[in-house]
Amino acid sequence: MSGAKTRNIKEAQGKAEALYPTRNDIPEKQREKVVAIMNARLAETIDLALSIKQAHWNLKGIQFIGVHEMLDGFRGALDGHVDEIAERLVQLGGTAHGTVQDVSSNTSLKPYPTNIHKVEDHLRALADHYAAVGAAVRKSIDETSDLGDEDSSDLLTGVSKTLDSNLWFIEAHLQE
Ligand SMILES: [Fe+2]
Repeated sequence: MSGAKTRNIKEAQGKAEALYPTRNDIPEKQREKVVAIMNARLAETIDLALSIKQAHWNLKGIQFIGVHEMLDGFRGALDGHVDEIAERLVQLGGTAHGTVQDVSSNTSLKPYPTNIHKVEDHLRALADHYAAVGAAVRKSIDETSDLGDEDSSDLLTGVSKTLDSNLWFIEAHLQE
């Protein structure tokens, strides 16, 4: 995994981007750390959203239509969470890093394979991606709580619930 090298640079280096002033009463030092965490989770959720469409378009096999349509529902739900994560960190005075260039350098996910087509291969690749994002989000639920931001923690709990539910749907196709 390229994650160790490319993980959100500011988070990894412990440096924070200058924040916009806000009347929000969470201390600035804590907000800086939460913003870095949320930008890292933003990169991963955008990466996952793009991977879902990659699978949606390129699936081939007998289960095509069911999985194709299921993934559109997953993408719609995830897009809502991406928006929540970005807007939360901006509320804290941060700048959301949602460009493809920033996402590419900040995501901790392995590149989604572009040389697979079988439904089962896409389901396995997506399950791996969902599990990786789910683990990172679950860790950040505690991290943001420890930093005194229960709102970000609660927001991420909502993201985690969706990721776990979607992972269940995917894995149920692979289990017998
Ligand atoms: Fe479509």
